[in-house]
Amino acid sequence: MSQHPLASSLQAWKELEQLYASKGKQINLTKAFKDDPKRFETYSRSFNSSKTDASFLTDFSKNLIDDEIYKKLLSLAKEAKVEQQRDDMFAGKPINSSEGRSVLHIALRDLPQDFNPPVEGVDEVKGELEHMKQFSEQVRNGQWKGYTGKQIDTIVNIGIGGSDLGPVMVCEALKPYAKRDLTAHFVSNIDGTHMAEALRASNPETTLFIVASKTFTTQETITNATTARDWFLKSAGDKAHVAKHFVALSTNVKAATEFGIDKANMFKFWDWVGGRYSLWSAIGLSICLVIGYNNFEQLLLGAHEMDLHYKNTPLDKNIPVLLALFGIWYTDFHGCQAHMLLPYDQYMCRFADYFQQGDMESNGKTITKDGERVNYETGPIIAGQAGTNGQHAFYQEIHQGTRLIPCDFLAPAQSHNPLGPHHDILISNFLAQPEALAFGKSEEEVKKELSAQDQQNSFLVKSKIFEGNRPTNSIMFPKLTPAVLGALIAMYEHKIATQGFIWGINSFDQMGVELGKVLAKKILPLLQGGDVSKVDGAGHDSSTSGLTKYYLTHRQK
Ligand code: F6P
Repeated sequence: MSQHPLASSLQAWKELEQLYASKGKQINLTKAFKDDPKRFETYSRSFNSSKTDASFLTDFSKNLIDDEIYKKLLSLAKEAKVEQQRDDMFAGKPINSSEGRSVLHIALRDLPQDFNPPVEGVDEVKGELEHMKQFSEQVRNGQWKGYTGKQIDTIVNIGIGGSDLGPVMVCEALKPYAKRDLTAHFVSNIDGTHMAEALRASNPETTLFIVASKTFTTQETITNATTARDWFLKSAGDKAHVAKHFVALSTNVKAATEFGIDKANMFKFWDWVGGRYSLWSAIGLSICLVIGYNNFEQLLLGAHEMDLHYKNTPLDKNIPVLLALFGIWYTDFHGCQAHMLLPYDQYMCRFADYFQQGDMESNGKTITKDGERVNYETGPIIAGQAGTNGQHAFYQEIHQGTRLIPCDFLAPAQSHNPLGPHHDILISNFLAQPEALAFGKSEEEVKKELSAQDQQNSFLVKSKIFEGNRPTNSIMFPKLTPAVLGALIAMYEHKIATQGFIWGINSFDQMGVELGKVLAKKILPLLQGGDVSKVDGAGHDSSTSGLTKYYLTHRQK
C-alpha cells in the first residue's frame, strides 16, 4: 500500500461523501441549536497553557456538522495517520520529501527542550537566540552606534514572503509592546517605490538595515539590499562602515559574506526552517528589536505551548486538528473555494495576509507525496481583514452570495486601548456576525418588519432574506499578548500541516513559485536591451511579446 494514498481512497472519506449526500447539505443550524441546548459545550474547546498567559476559547458549534459527521471526520484523521505524520514531524524525519528536509520550526521555540529532534543545527538554536538577544538589547539601549557615533533610531527589514510577512504581521500585532522611538520599515517589493519611500524617511547615520533572506539569492531582496547599501555608502563613503549598519539573517553564510556582511553581524538559521515558518528564527530579529527580546521569548513560549497541545492532545480535543477537519469538510465535500480569517482586533490587521502565504504556499498543491494527481480540492483561497472594516467591504457576499465561505472570527476580550464604548461595540459586531451567518433571517421575519405595501413587493422581501447556515469558528482570548499571539500562529500552522497530512501532499515545499521567476530572468535582458525589433524572435508567445513591445515603446526614456 502506498504511504500517502489519495485521501479520496480512504474509507472514512467515502463515508463522508455518503453523509454529505444524505444529510450534510441539509444541516440546519437553527434546528441543531434548538434540538441540543448543549451544542456550544459539545463543540467548543479551551486552550490553556500552564507556563504562559496564552489561553483561548474556540467555538466550533456553528459548523455544519452533527455528531455522526464529527465522528467520521475524526475517523478520517485517524485513517490518514495524522498522528503518525505529526510525530514524524516532531521527531525530525525528512517529511519535506521533495527537498529531503526535516520540518522543524517547532524546534525554534522549544526553549524547555521537550522535543530534541536529533537533527543537525537544533543544538545551535539557543546560541543564535542568545546572539539575537545581545544584539537587540545593544541596539535598543543605544550601545550600538552608527558610523558617526549616533544611536540607531530606524530599522529597515529587507526581505520578501516569509522573510517579511511574519515580522510585519507580528510587529503590527504586538505594537503595544513596541519601543515607540524606534521606527521600523519593511521593504519587500522589487518596485523601487517601496525602497524609495523607506529611504526617504531614513537617515543613513541612524539606520540599521536587516537583510532577511533564507537563501540570500532572492532577486527582490538582493536588489533592494544593494540599493540600500549604495544609498548608505553615498553618505558614509567608507565600506568599512557597512558593518555597523547592515546585518544578515540567512542560512547562506557564504552569500551573505560575499555581499559584504561581517560574520559577527550574521544571524543564521537552518534548512529545516521553511520560509513561511521562519518568524521564530533569526528572521524574527526585527521583532526582537521592535518589542524587545523578552517579549519575543514569550511569543516563542506561547507557540511552544501550542506545540505541546498539538503533539499530546487526543484528536477529539486537539484544536488544530479539529479546525483542519472542518476545513476539509467544507473544501472537499461542500465544494467551498475560500476561507476567511477575520480578526476583530486592529493590531491583527496583517494576520490574514500572513496566513495567505502560510496556507496557500503550503497547501496549494496538486500532487501527493507519492506523485499522484489528487482528484479532490486542496488548500482554499485565504483572505480577510480586521473587523469591522471587512463588514463594509466583502461581507455582503459571505451573507448572501451564491458561494459558501467559511470564516474564522477572532477577538480579544480586553483591548489594549479601552476607549469609551469602542470595545463593546467592536465585540457586539464580532458576536453578531457569526450569529447572523448561522441563523439568517426568514421570509416571515422580513415581512414582519415591512409595511403592508412593501410586503407585497416580492423582490424586496427576497432581497432581505438571509438563508443562514453559513459556517464559522469563533476564537476568543483574554488579550492579545505575545504568548497568545504565538499560540494562535502555531495553531494555524498545525491546522495547515494536518490538512496537508490528510490530503497526502507535501505542505513544506513551494515549487510553484519557480517558473515565473525563471521566465522573468529570461525576459529581463530583452527589457534591458531595449531593442523592440528583437522581441518577436525571442521565443515568447504573441501575448507576452505584444506586452513587451508596449512596455519598450512607452517606458521612461
Ligand atoms: O515565494 C517563494 C519563497 O521561497 C518563499 O517561500 C520565501 O518565504 C520567499 O520566497 C523568500 O525567500 P528567501 O527568504 O530565501 O529570500
